[in-house]
Amino acid sequence: MTDEEELDRLTGKLALPAKVRLLTGATTWRTAAEPAVGLRELVLSDGPAGVRGQTWDERHTAVLLPSATALAATWDERLVAEVGGLLASEARRKAVDVVLAPNLNLHRSPLAGRHFECFSEDPELTGRIGAALVRGIQAHGVAATAKHYVANDSETDRLSVDVRVDERTLREVYLAPFEAAVAAGVRLVMAGYNRLDGTTMTAHPLLADPLKTEWGFDGVVVSDWGAARGTRDTARSGLDLVMPGPEGPWGRALVRAVEEGRVPASAVDDKVRRLLRLADRCGALGERRPARPPLRSPRTRALARRAVAAGAVLLTNRDVLPLDPGRLATLAVIGEHAARTRVQGGGSAGVFPQDEVSVLDGIRAGLRGRGRVVHVPGPAPGGPPAPLDMTLCTDPRSGVPGVLLRVLDPDGRELYAEHRGNGRQLEPPLVPGGHTVEISARLHPRVSGRWTLGIAGFGRLCLSLDGRTLLDETVVKDTDDPALVHVRPPARPVTAELAAGSAPHLVARRELAPGTGRAMVVGAAPPAPDPAAALADAARAARAADAAVVVVGTTEHGEYEGHDRTSLALPPGQDALVSAVARANPRTVVVVNSGGPVELPWRDEAGALLLAWFPGQEAGGGLADVLLGRVEPGGRLPTTWPAALADAPVTRTRPLDGRLDYAEGLHVGYRGWLRRHRTPAYWFGHGLGYTNWSYEEVTGPAEVRAGDAFTVRVRVRNTGPRAGREVVQVYLARPGAAVEYPERWLAGYAAVRARPGETVTAVVRIAARGLRHWSVEAGGWRTEPGPCRVLAGRSAGDLPLALEVVVRDRE
Ligand code: BGC
Repeated sequence: MTDEEELDRLTGKLALPAKVRLLTGATTWRTAAEPAVGLRELVLSDGPAGVRGQTWDERHTAVLLPSATALAATWDERLVAEVGGLLASEARRKAVDVVLAPNLNLHRSPLAGRHFECFSEDPELTGRIGAALVRGIQAHGVAATAKHYVANDSETDRLSVDVRVDERTLREVYLAPFEAAVAAGVRLVMAGYNRLDGTTMTAHPLLADPLKTEWGFDGVVVSDWGAARGTRDTARSGLDLVMPGPEGPWGRALVRAVEEGRVPASAVDDKVRRLLRLADRCGALGERRPARPPLRSPRTRALARRAVAAGAVLLTNRDVLPLDPGRLATLAVIGEHAARTRVQGGGSAGVFPQDEVSVLDGIRAGLRGRGRVVHVPGPAPGGPPAPLDMTLCTDPRSGVPGVLLRVLDPDGRELYAEHRGNGRQLEPPLVPGGHTVEISARLHPRVSGRWTLGIAGFGRLCLSLDGRTLLDETVVKDTDDPALVHVRPPARPVTAELAAGSAPHLVARRELAPGTGRAMVVGAAPPAPDPAAALADAARAARAADAAVVVVGTTEHGEYEGHDRTSLALPPGQDALVSAVARANPRTVVVVNSGGPVELPWRDEAGALLLAWFPGQEAGGGLADVLLGRVEPGGRLPTTWPAALADAPVTRTRPLDGRLDYAEGLHVGYRGWLRRHRTPAYWFGHGLGYTNWSYEEVTGPAEVRAGDAFTVRVRVRNTGPRAGREVVQVYLARPGAAVEYPERWLAGYAAVRARPGETVTAVVRIAARGLRHWSVEAGGWRTEPGPCRVLAGRSAGDLPLALEVVVRDRE
């Protein structure tokens, strides 16, 4: 390790322009190298469910893990740290130094488009799970990034929204997970796009204080991609690195600002020193550092599969789960999501997974040689047509499965051509003189009827089939949000009659125009079945089977970055599908495949109800393990699940006159439900395993001195038929206190395991912070003396044990 004096010496070796050059990315995903100080470039990559690497290219696959909501649902820091290790090994395999994860924003509203990418509505759980992921990633010399600092909890107008949060709430709720990540040693913090109290986050005083002063963060503050807009304000603030590059507001403008005394030279030196310190920690500084060999990660798929089961939350079970494979002559597996399980949410977090095991595949593998599995899709949930892939089309030139990608000049002459496997091309090659990108394929429809074809991108889009023009339209770019411009441009659907056995030639073209990105997506969807007939087929299959598993979920139209949802309803036809199947067979398990809450109006009709989240590539294996009883579902809700959107404490994410007021203050998530005396469908913390528990006794100190941590012991007994794991949760409440508090708040938790009949004691540590509040008057943390109720149980709404502890002033 290079010491601080050496960092000073190296910084001093560089002239101002050389220093400033290092502070803006060299490319979209890389920083600049500086041979004069032995610095190689650093590679950064999203994050968080897999490590994509430097390209959006279907040939460069990544191990796709369960979404952040699923990881938080494990309440298992050891497992999450292992997952972090897996991300680190993926990073090393792809020569990535910095993983742009974890996302520590909170589930303030269930509508938030990146809900799936964040852990929880609770700052304590978010902080603990986030810190575990940071430790796991960084144990292997790869740096993690805590993002998006701070109050970037929804997507609507995220580039400009001015969030208003009171100081105490900011400290106790929204900054707290970042503080935990810094305490865990996180090496980068990403400043968000949003404003807070009128100041853009990339120039915000919070980057200096508390981040770099009070918390002692000695790493790099990186801007979110394109978030740094000004020169002087951002350079004078705690921002250290502007991404992406090579353009940006610093460069020559910053050199001039320093020369003219508008930005102190010491500010630039501090940024450079931080960058060199980061490089040193990543093994990127020093003349003779060897290239870092890939880490061995032999049990990758097994770990990803284990994580699926560990995060799956069983909400209700009327003695239906686990299914007994010995008694299943026929199992009906129903729903389009069963066969095309949605494994990840949309946006910068997206990767091309190494594999995708659907729920149907997983169940089939689990029952191979035993029961018969019948799949019926039910009514189509809709959504944009899936990108063309190797199962549907062939390259018209070579006949090989896949598509032909060409770049053409303004006269339509071919400048470049290559075979590709997928119709989702976000980064078609940049070819000098390139004017049009073309994706073409021979389609091989397996069913006849009216197909939906789609093309997405900005600028002039044309789509033709066997020479017949189906679409010729210019889509005007109406957003600067990178997630929409570069990752998920708007789709234009058209329909066409296709006959099974034919091989029509589809040609899709997009003209490139400056400032509109390169992304282009071409997709196709088969004719949707008649909804009534599809429903009847599903009910018939369920009735004829010993049990049914129906999988429903959100589509690409729902949860994605750069947009918030406006409804929590499942796509059309899906609620009716569940009701019809549940009516036809009482042994119906409903699997919900969404990143965040959806309304479940039929929840009392289901035999069992299991949340799968976005489970990642090993979805099917992990869920089959749970359904068939090989492992119990390990998940507990990281966020309160409303029965209806209107009941949720925060139902609006759209700013008013550019401002978004966090008017609920401290009362986020379950705290808001409790305060308004409302009952959700399922409380934060809720989730069942395959055994039962009785909560027998809670013990703890009668008194605790202000500022001290203390320990609570909770005795529980496994009263059910099989060994299991229970997440024992401890909440605090301060009834009658002078200071305003939430009704109660999670202050600690511990998981225990026990065999049938066994009694075990969960030892739950309550950190001193658990009793503290942020005093705005004092500008610091304070502990109020007086009585405190300690509540123990299985969720924010089910706390059978209580204890009183008196908090004494320190002498
Ligand atoms: C997202 C970040 C992401 C970055 C780079 C931004 O649009 O907000 O989370 O890391 O893009 O892809």
